[in-house]
Amino acid sequence: LNLALITGGSSNEREVALAGAAAVEAVLDPEVYSINRYDAATDIARIVQDKEKIDFAFLVVHGENGEDGRLQGLLDLLHIPYQGSGVLGSAMACNKPAAKQAFVCSGLTTPSWMTFDGFSPEIEAELIRKIGLPMVIKPAHGGSSLGMSIVHNKEDIQKACELCLSCGSSGIAEPCIRGREVTCAVWGNDPVEALPVIEIRPGREFQFFDYTAKYTPGATEEICPAPISEALTRKVQEAAILAHKSLYCEGYSRSDFILGDEELFILETNTLPGMTKTSLLPLAAKTAGISFAKLIDELIRLRLK
Ligand code: DAL
Ligand code: MG
Repeated sequence: LNLALITGGSSNEREVALAGAAAVEAVLDPEVYSINRYDAATDIARIVQDKEKIDFAFLVVHGENGEDGRLQGLLDLLHIPYQGSGVLGSAMACNKPAAKQAFVCSGLTTPSWMTFDGFSPEIEAELIRKIGLPMVIKPAHGGSSLGMSIVHNKEDIQKACELCLSCGSSGIAEPCIRGREVTCAVWGNDPVEALPVIEIRPGREFQFFDYTAKYTPGATEEICPAPISEALTRKVQEAAILAHKSLYCEGYSRSDFILGDEELFILETNTLPGMTKTSLLPLAAKTAGISFAKLIDELIRLRLK
């Protein structure tokens, strides 16, 4: 199979994508796959020229211009199949406010939210009135916690909004929900099946599961299967399946949650979950007895079926 490994890209998760692509490339069987690498930031014209030579595109890109449906649309027009969600699911999931509207419509619980695209004393007052402190401020289209802050004091709102807007054109604020952080990946066409749930416990030195906590080996304890009751495990898995369907995702996705005292809150769904050595989907698959190589083979097979 002539495989185009499309990675890199222009979002601030570029390094995460490159690390994931290296991990993917290392386990693909050279007897089965003939791999050519393309950078989603610089090689789009080359993909178009090479389209007759490409049997399948395996995407390891995150955030804008990679995970948000734009690249998927280009590949559709070129009749190149790729793993995972198409244009609609990718675009819905990558836009946090759009995803949250879909979650609410399907009966999932997600923290309340407010979007903003600038900072002013009026916006600050509205954030305090509608969201309250402590609040989470993050880019509306980002990932890997880049540009995200947890704000405890009114004085820090402006700085957090500015940091957030330096990463993208719009931001989203949510109340900071206390609870355990869990994530659940799902896969399959029909039926969609859930993989084991993972609990994430960043080291004490981290205020939250930030970029360093995510990608520094050993910085975070990832417990799989999560040490929660069977009933809660099922609840998380069902919510992950519902989230996947509510966003019109295809093939696979990974949804992130906060398990509060009484409620399960969905934060977001990732259509191209991280594939690095410290990433969560490979760990969930391993716990289910699926090697990293097998996971990738299956993601490809799911689309070619
Ligand atoms: N956005 C990163 C890659 C993840 O959720 O895994
Ligand atoms: Mg994410």
